[in-house]
Amino acid sequence: MPTSRRAFLKTGAVATISALAASRLAFAADAELELSPGEPGALISPNIYGHFIEHLGGVIYDGIWVGRNSSIPNVDGIRKQFVDDMKRIGAPNLRWPGGCFADGYHWRDGIGKSSARPRTYNFWQRRMPPGTDATETNQFGIHEFMHLCRLVGAQPYVAANVGSGSPAEFHDWVSYCNAPAATVSLADERAANGDTQPFGVRYWGVGNESWGCGGTMRPGEYATQYRKFVTQFPAYTEPFLVATGPRGHSADGDIGWTTGFFEGMRGATPPDGFGLHFYTDLRPTPLKAGDFKAPEWYEVLLRGVRLEKVIEDHWNELGKFDASHRTKLVIDEWGVWYAPGSEITPTYILSETITLRDAVHTGLTFDIFNRHADKIAMANVAQTVNCIHSLFLAQGAHFVRTPVYHVFDMYRAHMGARQVPVRNPVPDMNVPCLAGQARLSGLSASASVRDKRLVVTLTNPSIGAAFSLRIRLTGGVRARESRGTILTHADMRATNTFAAPEEVKPTDHTVKVAADALELNVPKQSIVLVEASLA
Ligand code: AHR
Repeated sequence: MPTSRRAFLKTGAVATISALAASRLAFAADAELELSPGEPGALISPNIYGHFIEHLGGVIYDGIWVGRNSSIPNVDGIRKQFVDDMKRIGAPNLRWPGGCFADGYHWRDGIGKSSARPRTYNFWQRRMPPGTDATETNQFGIHEFMHLCRLVGAQPYVAANVGSGSPAEFHDWVSYCNAPAATVSLADERAANGDTQPFGVRYWGVGNESWGCGGTMRPGEYATQYRKFVTQFPAYTEPFLVATGPRGHSADGDIGWTTGFFEGMRGATPPDGFGLHFYTDLRPTPLKAGDFKAPEWYEVLLRGVRLEKVIEDHWNELGKFDASHRTKLVIDEWGVWYAPGSEITPTYILSETITLRDAVHTGLTFDIFNRHADKIAMANVAQTVNCIHSLFLAQGAHFVRTPVYHVFDMYRAHMGARQVPVRNPVPDMNVPCLAGQARLSGLSASASVRDKRLVVTLTNPSIGAAFSLRIRLTGGVRARESRGTILTHADMRATNTFAAPEEVKPTDHTVKVAADALELNVPKQSIVLVEASLA
């Protein structure tokens, strides 16, 4: 028996499956998944693979906006490499301008001649290293943001200022963005600033973290604000309005926020989306972003997969107020957030080293999203560049795709496809963690189908055990051909740096087509994409 398989069996994870497999299969698989492509479920919204950029540290300035006169290749001031790579992964949306920044942002500061725009206070000044300055130059405003969205092909998702703004300011911004040309004066002003045609912004966030930096409100107070902000909404474009939802990573999951908000909304039109924030929050721990051992590897993954229960709990709570579930979840901030210490430069606050561990966390998260595609209208990683769970790190002429970028690239195959039921009998493994020992699923999987194209994504969270896998297709479905892609590395701490940008990158992976099955090996600490065309 190969060492890897022996190690996997030692975890006690697959003994039963192994026996089952051996009895039936020529390919002596350690584990078997069962997929039902003939019974497709919910549509996996492309918006689940969405993004978030905020005026914070090095996200907007330098990360994205390098300026029109920069020697760094750019399109009208926007970093060209960023645009190209975001197009490549089919980035479906961009949330902007915050985050906490949004509730201190006044949109008029970011329009008009760039040299005449005011310099203003940035919420994140309080987190900057002593002696450094976060003054907002407003060079990147709504026109620049819309230009970026159009270049990438992404839907804009704009977070409005509830915390320090007014309904009138919000409504004027909506009219400025969406009023048809030559109608209201704000449409003329938009045209004078370079955009005659309306932006057609559909997704609006009504505040952000209103329980915290967005106003420190109680849920009932926020419900009152929400109603005031949306009742006179200028509906030039059919809106998708997102209310501030809970701090999902709170110890109690913050169900009280959801209950309190919807109680305060009785009798009013519920929002289209309810924003749930879920950070795998390691800030209160000694864990480091780039240097860790086995317990810290598993600690991050164990905390990350709690998201599944948080989604289920809040969904159930929503159902108590509306059994038809008109309001969907919008997980508009998620990611692994480490304590400070691995910033690419001190003023790029909240930037972090991104390793294979974060890539594996991303695979687990996306599988959760796919499995709950019926509940989730949108999700936005926090944040796309130079902040927390980044896909890119950028500094001046340097630019690198992190391991997380490659997971987005692999999972894009699910976008807009229909969820396929997966029976995954792989048992949990015992793993070390900060508290001693815990149980973590031995294999994460999700699957989808579109136009006879089957996509399966698999994440093996184990740092010790590889195994062979048989993916059996039910209902007489047959695969004609298949290909595999894998993201892994011998070193669990592997990362991509400006000096070694391709240390962690996807490679081809062998998948065999058998009569009613696909067969492959799943190495330790890996994310595997299987694509098959169905007969
Ligand atoms: O993503 C960083 C910050 O995290 C956001 O500004 C805020 O909404 C959240 O607390």
